[in-house]
Amino acid sequence: MLIFVGSRRKGNCYNLAHKIQKELNNDHLESEIIIPGNQRIFLCTGCRDCEVSGICDFKDDMQKIIPKIKEEKVLLFITPARFNAISSDLKVMIDRLNPLYPRQELKMKKMIIVAIGAKEADIYSTEQVVNNFLSIADAFQMDPVIRYEFNNCLNPDDILKQESKIQNLITDIKKELIN
Ligand SMILES: Cc1cc2nc3c(=O)[nH]c(=O)nc-3n(C[C@H](O)[C@H](O)[C@H](O)COP(=O)(O)O)c2cc1C
Repeated sequence: MLIFVGSRRKGNCYNLAHKIQKELNNDHLESEIIIPGNQRIFLCTGCRDCEVSGICDFKDDMQKIIPKIKEEKVLLFITPARFNAISSDLKVMIDRLNPLYPRQELKMKKMIIVAIGAKEADIYSTEQVVNNFLSIADAFQMDPVIRYEFNNCLNPDDILKQESKIQNLITDIKKELIN
């Protein structure tokens, strides 16, 4: 499984990603964490050359990320809520997946969505973020198999206080990886 972390700080998304990875390791389930914000990823210009060639003209870290995505069956996106939307670090990378769009190369890959916000649960925060991802899954014909929202996460390790919810998430992820 690939785990995409939408925040650059060693905060809630990062902490959750590492906790998931550690627990999967215990069951000999492989995962790789990718932090798009720490990669060299140019902004999509919208030239649409890739729609014909299937390849982006830019030479950057997407050249190694795209083959990994093509290989994997399960993609986990962990994003902070950023003004009620997914993080721009993730969106920049997702736009650069356009070469895979015309031939629907992500079709039926499993998408796991985790949205983390500082606010109380309400429709203007993590729910919007999850809906944002659901429409991205729809565009790519991916299968959004799991969605979780974590709220009240302001400080970098606030999420670690929500241990039982994290364990439920990990159980759900393991089921998807084993199936
Ligand atoms: C620019 C910015 C915008 C944010 N917008 C929201 C928001 O709309 N709703 C929310 O609940 N939290 C919002 N937050 C708070 C973060 O989503 C929250 O603290 C999250 O846990 C940060 O994840 P991280 O610790 O992995 O960076 C925002 C934070 C930043 C920096």
